[in-house]
Amino acid sequence: MLRLEQVSKNFGGLPALSNVTFPVAQGQLTALIGPNGAGKSTLINCITGVLDPSQGSITFQNREIAGQPTHIISRLGIARTFQNLKIFPRLTVLDNVLTGLTSEGGDSMLMAMLRLPALRHRERRLRLRAMEALDRFQLADKATWPAGILAYGDKKRVELARATVGNPQLLLLDEPVAGLNAEETAAVGEQLRRLRSSGHTMLLVEHDMDLVMELADRVVVLDSGKCIALGSPDEIRRNPLVLEAYLGRTEAIA
Ligand SMILES: Nc1ncnc2c1ncn2[C@@H]1O[C@H](COP(=O)(O)OP(=O)(O)O)[C@@H](O)[C@H]1O
Ligand SMILES: [Mg+2]
Repeated sequence: MLRLEQVSKNFGGLPALSNVTFPVAQGQLTALIGPNGAGKSTLINCITGVLDPSQGSITFQNREIAGQPTHIISRLGIARTFQNLKIFPRLTVLDNVLTGLTSEGGDSMLMAMLRLPALRHRERRLRLRAMEALDRFQLADKATWPAGILAYGDKKRVELARATVGNPQLLLLDEPVAGLNAEETAAVGEQLRRLRSSGHTMLLVEHDMDLVMELADRVVVLDSGKCIALGSPDEIRRNPLVLEAYLGRTEAIA
């Protein structure tokens, strides 16, 4: 479904990604792991058009998307969550999730927000879908709250509801359970399991190795911007290069 070929990204001459090549197969959950600073978020940003890769090709359903603007890419059916939350604090929780549906019309997040008043009145059907998404993430009772007053764990789940409400073809999740407590992690893990079994294609950046090993069909390991391993969870667990990449580091293996 998605294919990265020799993708590189430099920041002021420093390489954040170097010749990264891997596929994301349809209907599978591909996990993207690696120590902090490995380039995982940069990769997600290149796929979604937030960043232009310096080199290389990214094809989605055989169509080149590298360097395309974010609204074009989201219109093709690629949705994401952000490692650093990007919610609209003054909008209600429901409206935040509704912005995830306006990308069907090809809007950027800002355009989506500007169009909300019209959308709200016009589309009862869309509101129902947004409410269903909130319900899946146990947020329905907070639909009318301004999103800014939610606790961190709830904000993370608003992002997940927004990313999934449009039933995207490809879902990119950048550390969806980071900072969540055990109970919240279990609830989000259950949602990921459900998304996976309903056939969603996902690329999951995550530090929680139990979750990664349980959910992933394939694991891609980045270290210092390079793809150092690619395989099944079992292969990755036993890969000496992966063990070496993590040896002596303070972060947990992820
Ligand atoms: N916008 C940016 N400008 C300059 N350097 C960046 C920028 N974004 C990321 N980097 C650098 O690129 C490297 C990879 O970062 P990142 O993709 O956030 O890693 P990860 O998500 O794996 O922790 C880091 O060295 C980081 O400092
Ligand atoms: Mg990151």
